Amino acid sequence: METKNKKYSRKEFMSFLGKASLGAMLAPPFLTSCGGTSTPAHTTDTLSKGNLENLKTLVLEALPASDKDDLLLAKGLDYHIVIKWGDQISDKDTFGFNNDFTCFIPLDEKNPKDGLLWVNHEYINPLFVSDFDYEKYENPQKHRTKAQVDKEMYNVGGSIVRVKEENGQWKVVQNDPLNRRITAQTPMRLNWDMPIKGKTTVIGTHSNCSGGITPWKTFITCEENYDSFFGETEYDKNNQATHIPSLYDWEKFYNYPPEHYGWVVEINPKDGTAQKHIALGRFAHECCTLYELADKRIVAYTGDDKNNEHLYKFISSKPGSLKEGTLYVANTEKGQWLALDWETQPALKKKFKDQTEVLIRAREAAKLLGATELNRPEDIEIDPITGNIFVSLTNNNSKKDFHGSILKIEETKGAFDALTFKASTYLAGGEENGFSCPDNLAFDLAGNLWMTSDISGSSMNKKGKPYMPFKNNGLFVIPRHGKDAGKVIRVASAPRDAELTGPWFSPDGKTLFLSVQHPGEQTKDVKNPTSQWPFDKDNIPKPAVVAITGDLIEKMNKLNKI
Ligand code: FEO
Ligand code: CA
Ligand code: CA
Repeated sequence: METKNKKYSRKEFMSFLGKASLGAMLAPPFLTSCGGTSTPAHTTDTLSKGNLENLKTLVLEALPASDKDDLLLAKGLDYHIVIKWGDQISDKDTFGFNNDFTCFIPLDEKNPKDGLLWVNHEYINPLFVSDFDYEKYENPQKHRTKAQVDKEMYNVGGSIVRVKEENGQWKVVQNDPLNRRITAQTPMRLNWDMPIKGKTTVIGTHSNCSGGITPWKTFITCEENYDSFFGETEYDKNNQATHIPSLYDWEKFYNYPPEHYGWVVEINPKDGTAQKHIALGRFAHECCTLYELADKRIVAYTGDDKNNEHLYKFISSKPGSLKEGTLYVANTEKGQWLALDWETQPALKKKFKDQTEVLIRAREAAKLLGATELNRPEDIEIDPITGNIFVSLTNNNSKKDFHGSILKIEETKGAFDALTFKASTYLAGGEENGFSCPDNLAFDLAGNLWMTSDISGSSMNKKGKPYMPFKNNGLFVIPRHGKDAGKVIRVASAPRDAELTGPWFSPDGKTLFLSVQHPGEQTKDVKNPTSQWPFDKDNIPKPAVVAITGDLIEKMNKLNKI
């Protein structure tokens, strides 16, 4: 078990003010995660007098909540669009729909302005993508065509695009040999010794919500609401299986088993090869946050974004492996990580035939062991200042938790491979704290916490719903230092029906990549969309990735560099 000798505390952090190489002393040796910073530890800037002055004088002007159909930014921030749905990335490929997670890996560590941007494409809106209106038919499934489904399958998965910053503008390098699409029709292997539903190579990835990067600089993309596309297999009390049909009827044309989806997927940026990591379990993975221990074993945190589902952690038994090791699930009341291990857990041995079945039916296995039901665990980040793990719990209307919270996990003795921990609430959503429904989290180079909200389009700005005061979804920052420390400050407001997702800082901390996902999602008639962002001539709303730059980003990243 790895134990960190250094005790993290805010007091200690403050006591280091003014010393050089804070990053090397305070930040974990490797941090990489979904929606987050790549590695804050690389900076070795000395805190200058100027920065300390900034700390006292920086004025953060919160943006008021707004229901305007636009991407609004706080003073000190600007944005430009890097790429949007339908843009060519090469002669043969276009950028997919509903961009979520973004991450950027520089091609050369010395040049933070030229690299590969990975973008998840989570799901489709058939009204826009395949010109199919589900509300037009009593039995829409009958009217679906293969051509429509093929178009939809192309528009999910992910994109790799080479992007460069010139004169303050990020642009896609057209036709770069590394530009490529991964779609719901891309073959990929299972990183597991046993076949699943008879296959060791499966077709495609979809439902790609958030993700991360690995210590060996590959992309991680997580399959979340996979049941929307090929349905789900459910089991009754007698262990009899039933197929629950999907939302989008893809199984009408492609007989792919639901068990091939709901995994954590790794993509090699250099050649586009992909693999699914079975050892990390199957459920609605929001994200996967990796930490490399001193002996190079990997700890991976991942949450199941569904009401009353769970928080998981995989600990590898071999260096750099996402296959050999044990998957644990959290009991947050007792502060225990419970092993989802068929060999050593009699309750699992009784119910499931082997470890593969335990991993495929991880939700059921977790409940059998007494895992704590949580309120939609979404994004997970490791706090570079304290080493604590932050988990967004978005909401759970079935338990009257309308506004969610951020859960803080303190591993025993700060060891990421500890099997016990303490759980507490870091911050609760609600009017008092000015935010509702936290989703993606990202720490900047100074350890400030950035957070997006995910109020659903069907509840947003609706009279009688508890979400009225919050208006459109937003991006918030929670400063860690100075007079605003701990306050939740809204710095961006999304276009109508949209959610801001995938915040990711460039390595120099000067750009925040951000997805604008599903603007105009509540549209019933394409001729009269509920949003027109980004205001193209065709008036059709389009998901897009933007680059946010400006003084505020630069100052926030410089303050108390860790
Ligand atoms: Fe795709 Fe849980 O958000
Ligand atoms: Ca999300
Ligand atoms: Ca979400």
